[in-house]
Amino acid sequence: MVPEAQPVVVEAQGAKTFAVPQALFDKHPGKPHLAFEEYRAKYKESIENPTQFWGDLARELLHWDIPFQTVKNGGFETGDVSWFMEGRLNACYNAVDRHAFAEPNGPAVIYEADEPSDGRIITYSELLREVCKLAYTLKEMGIKKGDTVAIYMPMIPEAIVAFLAVVRIGAIHTVVFAGFSSESLRDRVQDAKSKVVITADEGKRGGKNIATKKIVDAALEECPDVKNVIVYRRTGNEVPMKEGRDVWWHDELSKYPAYCPPELMASEDPLFLLYTSGSTGKPKGVMHTTGGYLVGAAATGKYVFDLHPGDKMGTAGDVGWITGHTYCVYAPLLLGVATLVFEGTPAYPNFSRYWEIIAKHKLTHFYCAPTALRLLKRAGDHHIKGDLSSLRILGSVGEPIAEEVWRWYHEKVGREECHILDTYWQTETGSHVITPIGGCTPTKPGSASLPFFGIEPAIVDPVTGRELVGNDVEGVLVIKQPWPSMARTVWGSHQRYMDTYFNVYKGCYFTGDSAARDYEGYYWIRGRVDDVVNVSAHRLSTAEIEAALIQHPAVAESAVVGVADELTGQTVNAFVALKDAYKNTPEMRKELTMQVRKSIGPFAAPKAVYIVDDLPKTRSGKIMRRILRKILSGEEDQLGDISTLSNPSVVEHIINVVHET
Ligand code: WTA
Repeated sequence: MVPEAQPVVVEAQGAKTFAVPQALFDKHPGKPHLAFEEYRAKYKESIENPTQFWGDLARELLHWDIPFQTVKNGGFETGDVSWFMEGRLNACYNAVDRHAFAEPNGPAVIYEADEPSDGRIITYSELLREVCKLAYTLKEMGIKKGDTVAIYMPMIPEAIVAFLAVVRIGAIHTVVFAGFSSESLRDRVQDAKSKVVITADEGKRGGKNIATKKIVDAALEECPDVKNVIVYRRTGNEVPMKEGRDVWWHDELSKYPAYCPPELMASEDPLFLLYTSGSTGKPKGVMHTTGGYLVGAAATGKYVFDLHPGDKMGTAGDVGWITGHTYCVYAPLLLGVATLVFEGTPAYPNFSRYWEIIAKHKLTHFYCAPTALRLLKRAGDHHIKGDLSSLRILGSVGEPIAEEVWRWYHEKVGREECHILDTYWQTETGSHVITPIGGCTPTKPGSASLPFFGIEPAIVDPVTGRELVGNDVEGVLVIKQPWPSMARTVWGSHQRYMDTYFNVYKGCYFTGDSAARDYEGYYWIRGRVDDVVNVSAHRLSTAEIEAALIQHPAVAESAVVGVADELTGQTVNAFVALKDAYKNTPEMRKELTMQVRKSIGPFAAPKAVYIVDDLPKTRSGKIMRRILRKILSGEEDQLGDISTLSNPSVVEHIINVVHET
């Protein structure tokens, strides 16, 4: 039965509540998996009886070669959370084989190349063959269960093949976003101790070629443990190949049979590492495990995205970030639906590209970051072209979505026929934690709405650490009980994992974000409370950028702050004090920007570099970043008492520098 249509807009204490549009039900292939009352009941069950809830769901959504007997063990205090312990399964079997056997010709990957004319569609049986050949290749190179393999690839179907081949043989993938510099890649390959790197000759984005293999070569100069590099030929332009180390993807794969049996893995065996930024200069290798992560991906794919057979999921994010891992690769493939791999940018060859892709492939789902929506909104509505009526769900991820952007997405892209999902989650959570349920939850623009199953959020007073109960409260966001897809450790540093996530507010997982819970229990994510900045939905650490700057011989000291920006959400701004022998010149500022590009990647480059005589500090030497942020936001009259600084006169100097630049 189709749920009854509700009024489109319900006024509710200032924030408008939007019901799921009737048009979504009308065009639905059946009906959404859940109605709102069912969500409420199931949510209650998931919190009160997580063992029963997740045990049932894990059996329903995944194929287990050996069933588990114990659903859940351990806790936050002891840092030993584990799920589905005795169970054995293989991620690749679950994502590919079972669908290739049931429906060999079903579409698995929809590849939209940078040039609109170059794409292709890969079926589940084709995907299985390609994955098996690469899995064989890796095995022949000596990769075994528990080894790590680095993937540094453009957004092409072979990136997905690489993910799946690695996990098929029980190895652990560590995917590095191809926008990272050679130094960042080097650090990640070294930290993960990867023995093989999978890459391409070049990438192609927005009509430009990217020197992917060259970056790998530079990174590997300091990675002697890497024995082999597998290179996929994407553009065919000549690239150096190192004798004895580098091999061509097509040469190797042509040697091996198109079936390679999957390795049986324990539920808690690591599935992948993904490096992410935190409060310190060194990125953390967040580790996810097989059973729990896959259950989280499949459960949110099913319920949040309301995926049904025949759906086509369009995640615009890169597979180098967690959004790509979970919603471009694992969730759609675990559920046997097609997933889009988009190599290009929303602006190439013009601002209609996203909408043309949706119309061309009749995508039912589209998922991107608000930063892209802001860009496209600014470019003008006349770019929204074509028949977008196949769409049911429009998702948003990675940063807060402002009300006017939400409304634009709803009205102009969705034509008020789609459900808008503002999904809140993190690399560490593995899958959505606070999010509307597709076709089910009434939404409010700007609110990520309600918790997903098994997620028990709480708002904590940051000063006292006490939980703020009831509605209409604001504070720091924590989660009170373990869920299957949460990260299990920081690679090589379990203590850092404990200290970052569990020792801040004892007994809880600390998200690093602040949030409000409104009078109806809806959550509104406010942003990070630590040193993480969010630039175009890329997660960066100010400490990491400072660590990059200090490597430049001219830099005595630096302070990096994030400032709100209409287009990119936040921008990176660097204040630098130079050593005596160096001068403040435009070239110097350029060099410092280059330093960050070289050390982290172009996407981390500061929008502005301010060279100053000194940084504002307390008497104990702590840099007062708050003052720098206020100056940049034009709030110089709200600096508070600066007389307690060790160097109060520097403030006026900094104000002048900012005004002059
Ligand atoms: C932010 C991305 C507001 C948040 C999936 C979080 C969001 C960080 C939202 C994680 C949202 C993510 N609304 N803020 N819907 N989604 N964030 O690890 O600050 O790259 O802590 O994972 O992005 O970034 P990460």
